[in-house]
Amino acid sequence: MKDLKPEVQRLKKERNAVILAHNYQLDEVQEVADYVGDSFYLSKTAANTNSDVIVFCGVHFMAETAKILSPDKTVLLPEKDAGCPLADMITAGGLRELKARYPGVPVVCYVNSPAEVKAESDVCCTSANAVKVVSSLPDNKVIFVPDEHLGHWVAGQVPDKQLILWQGCCITHAKVKPADVATVRDKYLGAVVLVHPECEPAVVELADFVGSTSAIISYAGKSEAKTFIIGTEMGVLYKLRADNPDKQFFLLHTGLVCPNMKKTRLESVYEALVHFQHEITVEERLATAAKRALTRMLELA
Ligand code: 13P
Repeated sequence: MKDLKPEVQRLKKERNAVILAHNYQLDEVQEVADYVGDSFYLSKTAANTNSDVIVFCGVHFMAETAKILSPDKTVLLPEKDAGCPLADMITAGGLRELKARYPGVPVVCYVNSPAEVKAESDVCCTSANAVKVVSSLPDNKVIFVPDEHLGHWVAGQVPDKQLILWQGCCITHAKVKPADVATVRDKYLGAVVLVHPECEPAVVELADFVGSTSAIISYAGKSEAKTFIIGTEMGVLYKLRADNPDKQFFLLHTGLVCPNMKKTRLESVYEALVHFQHEITVEERLATAAKRALTRMLELA
C-alpha cells in the first residue's frame, strides 16, 4: 500500500491547505497535522489562517465553527458522519423556549453545539475559557447550554452567578463514575488525577486538576509528579506520552474513546485532499448571527 504521509504533505502544498486536528484524533492524524490542540486553540487558528483550505480533523461542530469564522475558506471535514451527540442534544427551538422563560438573561453557548444554537446565543465558550466568559458578563443570571456538567463546574468557579443549565452531556465523559476515581487511586498510589469538566460533578470534585484537553496536557508537562490518571478522551495520550517519556499515563476509564473522533483516519485526510471532501457550508444569515457569538468569545478570552 502506498505511504500516505508524503502524499498528504504533497497534496497539502498543492492545495494550499492547512490541517487542524483536535487532541482526540488518532495518532496517525495528529502526526500529519499542522496544528493540534483544544477547541479554543483550533478556533483561533482557523480564524487566522492564510491557507485557502482548512482540513478539519475533528467533529462536525468544529469544522462548522471554522467555516463561520473563516467564511472565505474552503473547510473540509474528512469524515462527514463525524458528529457530536452532545451538540445534537439541543435545538434552536428548545433554546428559544428557555430564553422565553428567562427574558433578558444572556445565553452562553458551549461550542459543542449546532450553528443554529450559536446564532440564538450572546456569546460562545469552550472548556478552556468558559469561566472567563461567564465571569465577564455583568448579569447575575446566565443561561448556559448545552453541557450540564461543564455548567456545574463553571457555576462552582463563579459563585456570585446563578447558572440556568440545559440537560446535555458528553456520553463519553459521562461514563466515568466517582468509584472509578477511588479504584485508580488505590491502584496507582500517589498518582495525580486530571479530568475534563465534561465529567460529572461528583467525578470533578474528586480530581486534582480540572481543565480543557490542552490544559490537561500542559499541567502534566509542568508537574513534578511521575504518574497521572487521565479523565478525558484517550487521544490526549499521544501527546502526553510523546512529550513526557519519563512519566506514566493511565486512563481513568477504559470507555474514554469517542467513536466520532476516531472515524477520521490518515486515509480519510488523504481522500479529503484528493476529492475536496466533505465541504462544510453554513447558510449566510445563520453564519452571521453565529459569528457574533463566536467573535465575542475570541475577544473576551
Ligand atoms: P476541549 O475544548 O477541551 O478540547 O474539549 C473539546 C471536547 O469536545 C471535549 O469533549
